[in-house]
Amino acid sequence: MKFPTHFSAKPSHYNKEAVHYDTFNEKNSTHINQFLEKIFKKHRVKTILDLTCGTGAQVLWLAKLGYKIIGSDINNRMLKLAKDKARKENLDIKFIKGDMRTTQAGQFDAVITIFNAVGHLTKSDFEKAIKNIHMNLNHKGIYVFDIFNLRYFLKDDNITKLTIDWQKKSENTTVREIQYSTINEEGILTSYDIYHEQEGANKPKISKAFQTLQIYSAEQLNQMLQKNGFEVLRQCGIDGLNLIETTTDRIVTIAKKK
Ligand SMILES: C[S@@+](CC[C@H](N)C(=O)[O-])C[C@H]1O[C@@H](n2cnc3c(N)ncnc32)[C@H](O)[C@@H]1O
Repeated sequence: MKFPTHFSAKPSHYNKEAVHYDTFNEKNSTHINQFLEKIFKKHRVKTILDLTCGTGAQVLWLAKLGYKIIGSDINNRMLKLAKDKARKENLDIKFIKGDMRTTQAGQFDAVITIFNAVGHLTKSDFEKAIKNIHMNLNHKGIYVFDIFNLRYFLKDDNITKLTIDWQKKSENTTVREIQYSTINEEGILTSYDIYHEQEGANKPKISKAFQTLQIYSAEQLNQMLQKNGFEVLRQCGIDGLNLIETTTDRIVTIAKKK
């Protein structure tokens, strides 16, 4: 089987998905957000930079808890949705458009990139992002991120657990997303999507898309972070439970600037 080549995502990557993003993803953020809360309390974090804020799943949650937070993202549409939600909720959050490989927004107690966001980069671009994150952190600041666990998804038929068939109805429109994924030994996870969008009794609009993500084992992440000025404090699941290489699907890594 021929696998697509993985490139770092273009700024426009989420243009199409942005409009449906919250419909399918908003509720999935609760566990990771609750875990972030615990991590930040433990590490006495007060200021946070979210370099891949998307539609605001983490920035809104954390701003409501009183953290001083900046949201940044490379995609205009995702960023606009986040800004609109913050305005509606009267939250004082600064947003900037930027690339996690290059954005310099100041010096923070913590930097986050949540929900497989670094998987949108190639390995060498992720190293650039790690170096950049280092520069955005205070002395001993922490970097917290998650990414799918390569070991888990290479095992047995675990990759099939990513298969989704979601349907949501809002007012007069029904949206259905069907997705299946494949993976290779290099950690390139390819997902194929079909979207059905039907307004009333009209003929459904059908569109297709695919995307690749670079995913990692805990050991690979550890090595990349150590090489680029970080000490890895902990790697675990998004529920905060200890990492088990063959059963944890998403690895949360907490790394401290050395
Ligand atoms: C899966 S979404 C996650 C968004 C949000 N953190 C959440 O949990 O819903 C990944 C986000 O990363 C952003 N992204 C991808 N490549 C980026 C880059 N090089 N710099 C900054 N943002 C990037 C995308 O635009 C998208 O909003």
